[in-house]
Amino acid sequence: NKKFTVNSFLENKKNNEKISMLTAYDYSTAKLLDNAGVDSLLVGDSLGMVVLGYEDTLEVTVDDIIHHCKAVSRGAKRAMVIGDMPFLSYHINVEETVRNAGRIIQEGRAQAVKLEGGKEILDKVKAIVKAQIPVIGHLGLTPQSVNVFGGFKVQGKTLESAKRIIEDALLLQEAGVFAIVLECVPEKLAKIITEKLDIPTIGIGAGKYCDGQVLVTQDMLGMFTGFTPKFVKKYANLNKHIENATKEYISEIKKGVFPSDEHVFSIDESIIEKLY
Ligand code: KIV
Ligand code: NA
Repeated sequence: NKKFTVNSFLENKKNNEKISMLTAYDYSTAKLLDNAGVDSLLVGDSLGMVVLGYEDTLEVTVDDIIHHCKAVSRGAKRAMVIGDMPFLSYHINVEETVRNAGRIIQEGRAQAVKLEGGKEILDKVKAIVKAQIPVIGHLGLTPQSVNVFGGFKVQGKTLESAKRIIEDALLLQEAGVFAIVLECVPEKLAKIITEKLDIPTIGIGAGKYCDGQVLVTQDMLGMFTGFTPKFVKKYANLNKHIENATKEYISEIKKGVFPSDEHVFSIDESIIEKLY
């Protein structure tokens, strides 16, 4: 199966073929998802919340993303690997932005980067694109702006904010991004944006009209017991499997059932006699 690339994103949109994306943060999971045929793996800064246990994504650093990108890239054979640019890595100036994006490609071995925002980051987007690094945009509920939004809320519900998101999407396309993630926006707004753009939209909580979909893998696999957003569909309940397996493991240790004969190594009895 041939590698999924930036061209595949655009071809899929042209051919009305939906694009699948999932987050990944480690080698073994990346390998599983890649083998299952997912088109694209995002090393998202959701890493902070999902893997590192932070309250939000703001604590994640470029080094964190690179560390996990390396692992995911080693596990992804066909899927395109995208590294998220964390908070503060593209906010200072163009030079730092290009350096950080470049490190995610060079050290992390990702094939593209993603950053949040529209109009206010166009100069940064253009500079990264100019450095020959493919860029994905991210509009709507951009979690790095949680303190500005005052929480994780659906965006683009008023005429003004809906217009702003459409305008940002067009500006990002003009700046050279090859796809845009739309997070937590009304389905019909995402439809309009998807129709207006030549590049694909990847939705999360943005409905069925997007050109592709992305979910956080741990959400999709049901590995959490806590709060699950409305837009998440759980395709498995791994938390139950993990809990049951762990309880059984503990219980078998306590009862002396595990390890049994099949799990142990033997030694010649004549040697054992000399050891007493
Ligand atoms: O960090 C992340 O996982 C993301 C996706 C949810 C789009 O940005
Ligand atoms: Na993210």
